[in-house]
Parts: sequence; C-alpha cells; structure tokens
Amino acid sequence: MRVLGIETSCDETGVAVYDTEQGLLAHTLYSQVDLHAQYGGVVPELASRDHVRKLIPLIKQVLAESETNKVDAVAYTAGPGLIGALLVGVSVGRSLAWTWQVPAIGVHHIEGHLLAPMLEEAAPNFPFLALLVSGGHTQLIEVAAWGKYKILGESLDDAAGEAFDKTAKLLGLGYPGGPALAELALRGNPNRFDFPRPMTQRPGLDFSFSGLKTHVLTTWNKQEQQDEQTRADIARAFEDAVIDTLVIKCRRAIKQTKLKTLVIAGGVAANKRLRSSFNEKLNINIYYPRPIFCTDNGAMIAYAGALRLLNNQSEALAFKAYARWSMFD
Ligand code: KG4
Ligand code: ZN
Repeated sequence: MRVLGIETSCDETGVAVYDTEQGLLAHTLYSQVDLHAQYGGVVPELASRDHVRKLIPLIKQVLAESETNKVDAVAYTAGPGLIGALLVGVSVGRSLAWTWQVPAIGVHHIEGHLLAPMLEEAAPNFPFLALLVSGGHTQLIEVAAWGKYKILGESLDDAAGEAFDKTAKLLGLGYPGGPALAELALRGNPNRFDFPRPMTQRPGLDFSFSGLKTHVLTTWNKQEQQDEQTRADIARAFEDAVIDTLVIKCRRAIKQTKLKTLVIAGGVAANKRLRSSFNEKLNINIYYPRPIFCTDNGAMIAYAGALRLLNNQSEALAFKAYARWSMFD
C-alpha cells in the first residue's frame, strides 16, 4: 500500500511517498530558512503563505519521481505546530484524499519523529526508550509498541533545540542557531568553562534548559576579551552541558525501565557530538534517523501514516488541526 505524506507544521514543507512493501519511494523538502533568517526566527504568517506556494508543486514532484498514479491514503501532520502552517497541509491532504476517495490520516508530529529511525535499514524493534530532542520538545518516552507511548520525563521550560537556538542568538550567531552553534563548538576548548548540568542532582527524568542560556550570557558578559575563541569556548561548554545532561537522564531512564534499545530523534539528534557522546558513554543499542530525517520531513509522516493505515486508523470526514496536542492519555 502506498501513502503520500505531508509535513507543514513549522518552517519546512516536506512531502514523501512510502510504500509498505517497497519502502520509501521519494521524498522532498523545502526549507524556509532563508525566508525567516532576517527576522531571527519563524514568522508564522510567512510560514503559512510559503507552504501554500510550495506544497502542491512538491506533491506533484514526489508523485512523478515515485511514478505513483494512485495512492492508498494521504497522511498529513495534524499537530502540534503552528496552526496556520498546519492548516495548509491538513486542508490540502484532506482535499486530495477526498478527491481520490482514499483514507485521510492525521499524524501526530512527535509520533512521526519517534518512528523516523524505522525508515533506516537497521531499524529498531519495539519496545524502546525514545529521547525526542527537537525545537519544540524534549521528552523521554517509553515506547512499548506502536501507538503505546508513555511519557517518563520532559523539559519544564525550553526544549533542547530551543536552548541551542536561543543561545546561538545570544552569541550573535545566525538563524537557525542549532547547527551554527554546533559548528562553532567544534573549534571550542572543552576545558576552559564548566557549565552546570541542570536537574541532574535531583531524582526524576525531567529537564530544564532555560538556565543554561542565562549562564552563557553572564559568562560572556564577564569576559574581558570577547573574541572569537571565547565565543567558541562558550559554545563548546554549552553544548557539552546539554549533551551530558541528556546522557545522564537517558542512563537513568534505561536503569529505571530496563529497556535495551534507545532511539534518539528530532532536530538535535542531527548533532554529531551528541551522537558520538551517546555512542561512547551508553552501553546500549542506539538508533538515530539519518540526519535529514532528524529535522522535520515528509518521510516520517508518510511512514507513520502507513502504520496507521495498516492498523485501520483514518479520520472521519470533518478535519481537525491542533496547535497543542498531547500524545499521551
Ligand atoms: O525536529 P525539528 O526540525 O523541529 C521541531 O519539531 O521542533 O528540530 C529543529 C531544532 C532546532 O531547534 C534546531 O536548532 C535543532 O533542531 N538542530 C540542532 C542541530 N540541527 C538542528 N541542534 C543542535 N545541533 C544540530 N546539529
Ligand atoms: Zn519536528
């Protein structure tokens, strides 16, 4: 069975075709990074308008590339995300499903991220522990089986990606900040500054990253020499603190749940130093999506939609989009 997947929850227009027998047949992504860069962050109205411009041509492109003239379902991100941006994908997805008389499947964006490693040849098996680290969420989730998700811990304030982005802004790096900060940190001295690992002294699996950016700001303001090396050293200390905190909490969650497999997904999972640090420090099987499927994309939505289709889950005629949407009971 073949599923068209559509992702428009934020600033990437992603489209893909997934076949339950042949795997991923085509995928494409248009990033709005250049559009939002001058504002230093995503402008919701501009994001929606750009999805309107790009979505239909991208759909035509992936259908042609995958030589698809008939799909068995249309899956789209129904939330959470920016409501105007979501509504573009939701209404186009539903209209196509209606026209083609196939099921329409609303996918939870976080479920898409969690299942993204399953698009890889070496895919994880259920059950697993998942660390979702994106721009909007930082969550530790126990995944017992498909559709059985239990939240074990989450950020009480900024998400990990958000902390990267805000810290990058403080350090005068461009938007999007996460990759720029990671790049700068590569040139940083790991021994010059030692930042706190927030909430690791207390029991539990929740996170808090907002204090780290304040730490960055006060450290920067205290420096007599505000040069490039100092900026890189601070970026490195910040990145080390975030990664170390995530490792400590995952180690704790593994101990608590006794799960043998860890999945790391979401935009921050693209971070190279995060991957090497986890691989080095945790003696457990770790699965990541390929870097382009860590950040928002249509392939993960097509895949999550295909699983829903196989499990006979589709939407009734009325359509819905949710700016906020809990995946847990
Ligand atoms: O999953 P995603 O595309 O969007 C959300 O659903 O939020 O994640 C985007 C986030 C941004 O905060 C971005 O700065 C961060 O992922 N990110 C990174 C890296 N690549 C993307 N953070 C650190 N290092 C990276 N290499
Ligand atoms: Zn995302």
